[in-house]
Amino acid sequence: ADVFTFDPGFTSTAACESEITYIDGDKGELLYRGYPIEELAEKSHYLEVCYLLLNGELPTEKQMTDFEYRITRHTMLHEQIHMFFRGFRRDSHPMATMVGVVGAMSAFYHDSLDINDPWQREVAAMRMIAKLPTIAAMAYKYSIGQPFVYPRNDLDYAANFLHMCFSVPAEPYVVKPELAKAMDRIMMLHADHEQNASTSTVRLAGSSGANPFACVAAGIACLWGPAHGGANQACLEMLREIGSVDRIPEYIRRAKDKNDPFRLMGFGHRVYKNFDPRAKVMKESADEVLDLLGVHDNPILQVAKELERIALEDEYFVSKKLYPNVDFYSGIILEAMGFPTAMFTPIFALSRTVGWISQWKEMLGDPTGKIGRPRQLYTGKVQREYVPVPKR
Ligand code: CMC
Repeated sequence: ADVFTFDPGFTSTAACESEITYIDGDKGELLYRGYPIEELAEKSHYLEVCYLLLNGELPTEKQMTDFEYRITRHTMLHEQIHMFFRGFRRDSHPMATMVGVVGAMSAFYHDSLDINDPWQREVAAMRMIAKLPTIAAMAYKYSIGQPFVYPRNDLDYAANFLHMCFSVPAEPYVVKPELAKAMDRIMMLHADHEQNASTSTVRLAGSSGANPFACVAAGIACLWGPAHGGANQACLEMLREIGSVDRIPEYIRRAKDKNDPFRLMGFGHRVYKNFDPRAKVMKESADEVLDLLGVHDNPILQVAKELERIALEDEYFVSKKLYPNVDFYSGIILEAMGFPTAMFTPIFALSRTVGWISQWKEMLGDPTGKIGRPRQLYTGKVQREYVPVPKR
């Protein structure tokens, strides 16, 4: 019989070769195409990072201008997709709407479905990077009963997203540059993270030759889970549920109890066993945003800070190397900006789209590329005889 390596959760199996993102979990290091995330967060901006991830090099000035021009040309959605939104219940989670609408893009953009045509692949990539913020903002507007707000191409990528979420026809939202910068930074920090669950999902879906919109829709579906991208929403809900500093010990106790399924959301990571470098940058950003907005006595923030302090000193968390991850702080910033918790994971999704597409493109270019097809260790019944109903 065939012999297979058994590796539940793929903790020690490399599924591909990749030149895009490097993580050293012990050192807490994250590089996009060789550039440290901390440096990119400080000196770069989201669209430049998109170019870098997609193409492997930082753009020249001309390449950047062309790229920006191409992205902004694709920010609007086919008008008929507006009707598609209206088929959803108003109280749908924006992630549910996004899985549907992004999947449905393959029903609208027929000239970017041929994965063997490099030009079509490129257009599909541009379309998704450009349209995901529009789709996420529309999902939000729909859920709160406000009219859709069209994109504005004179604003930069992050500012335009804030505009589409918070403007109403009666009153434009004046985007504070500092908030646009913080939003841009959140997007940069989420742009790629090598072979995480959703990226592996996109690669697996893509390995069968499925079209890029279908692959990204699969990635969005996977990201939604609370162990992955859904953690940012789950984390803020947990902080709210804890509610006050004096209740923290009870939750710490529950997190340590093997018989209680509760986990501290926003803590722990499969790869980072020292600290999550994204969390460090995000924490600084959170402090800046809260200062800017004058938020100091927010009880959620107090709970977050105290929880972090207690957990970092607790033997259980220290010995298991459980540190706050990127999702622990992002929710605090997004909440301060005025986003409801249901929008946290959609923001993760739109930011990660470039990573998914870069990985998908890399996979298609791999000459050894095979369909992803894991094997199994069968633990079921051996062959047996069918028993007719009267004899069972
Ligand atoms: N709270 C309490 N205990 C935990 C936690 C936590 N957040 N995370 C891990 N543990 C314990 C776990 O019970 C296990 O204990 P033991 O060895 O005694 O059985 C040990 O630590 C190792 O955990 P694991 O589940 O085997 O580790 P993993 O690598 O499979 O899981 C994880 C990583 C991120 C899914 C997990 O840490 C977790 O569920 N964290 C909370 C959810 C979260 O914040 N997710 C966001 C991850 S970062 C952004 C993203 O990828 O989307």
